[in-house]
Amino acid sequence: MEKIEKALNYIKKYGLYPEVPVVSSPHAPETIVNGKKVLLFATNNYLGLMHDERVVTAAIEGVKKWGIGNGSARLLTGNIKIHQQLEEKIAGFKHREAGITFVSGYMANLGAIPAIVNFFKPSISSLLRGKIERDKNTIVFSDEYNHASIIAGIRLSGVQKEIYKHTDVDDLRNKLIKYSIKTRKIIITDGVFSMDGDIAPLPDILDLAKKYNALVYLDDAHATGILGKNGRGIEDYFGIDNGVDVVMGTFTKAFGGVGGFVAGSKILIDYLKISSDSFIFTAPIAPPVVYGLMKAIEIVEKEPWRRKKLLENTEYLRNRLKELNFDTGTSNTQIIPIIIGDEKKSIMVSRFLLEKNIFIPVARWPAVPQKQARLRTTLMCDHTFEQIDCLVSTLVEIRKKIKF
Ligand SMILES: Cc1ncc(COP(=O)(O)O)c(C=O)c1O
Repeated sequence: MEKIEKALNYIKKYGLYPEVPVVSSPHAPETIVNGKKVLLFATNNYLGLMHDERVVTAAIEGVKKWGIGNGSARLLTGNIKIHQQLEEKIAGFKHREAGITFVSGYMANLGAIPAIVNFFKPSISSLLRGKIERDKNTIVFSDEYNHASIIAGIRLSGVQKEIYKHTDVDDLRNKLIKYSIKTRKIIITDGVFSMDGDIAPLPDILDLAKKYNALVYLDDAHATGILGKNGRGIEDYFGIDNGVDVVMGTFTKAFGGVGGFVAGSKILIDYLKISSDSFIFTAPIAPPVVYGLMKAIEIVEKEPWRRKKLLENTEYLRNRLKELNFDTGTSNTQIIPIIIGDEKKSIMVSRFLLEKNIFIPVARWPAVPQKQARLRTTLMCDHTFEQIDCLVSTLVEIRKKIKF
């Protein structure tokens, strides 16, 4: 404990311990944060479904029927029908044969990546000895800005990895070329990068994967329900149907709930159900949430105006910020960083905004590289242009006091 206390004191001394805001109303453009009503530009509830009346009614039906839990892990007695229905629904949404759900997106990556990378070596002798052997001869190629849950999944696999420069197709190619065509390779990428809001060059990645004999694992957390003609994610955005081998996502963003999933071929999903530890050894998504999610997916499919309005808001804010020379980096989605660089300055700007009743937290190292601290702005379809104008004019006012 002494060592833990020392480490904690050190973090606090250097101002690295985060001030976590207390939120006391559901995420909406106007939300109560730290006891006061603010304009919120920092939620993953992109389509406003977290508290949609129809979603809440479905969840109430779920809680009345099942209570708040399901009593067991899936492979024992917790395999209730509605989980299978949700898996079928999300697989259909992603144009895949089958799906598997996890308690969170983080757990999906933590379970699926090691299972796929480190696959079982089928051998009678190991079965007879009651020992599971794993093939460790896979190389993982991972974008340097991939989400923390991907990094954790790769680390857990314990295999060799090649980290390629962010969205840099040439660097990925140079790294793939180093290995024989027969070496098992997996390229893992976010679809939309969570701190920069830019999009992975999926068509180029798929070309390279074909040429160099690699599987592609896509974390489509932020694009699912948002990007593409039918909101199916970045494959849909690029007009590619069923392009990647493994598509992972989360229910915490466009769908407004909680939980994670992987969709793919029936073979892949059957395999994951017996090989992903975070599926096998934990209880699944709570039944009321599953009910709510079924309704949320239906709404996403039936109400395209939500994602269209979100993207309109996105375009509007980004253009206004760019006109005024704010640094929005490479963003071209609903995640728009306002890059300030210096951590202390970023914290000051965020505090000033809060004084003016606007809330945007700071994303800083280790979530982003050092000296690239930023206000991580995200939008909802429910924001109005007036609210966005208010954010922009307040930033301009603050910039007169603090240069950034
Ligand atoms: C790209 C990406 N993958 C995975 C996750 C984890 O999702 P969840 O919040 O469902 O655990 C996130 C969450 O922020 C994310 O941004």
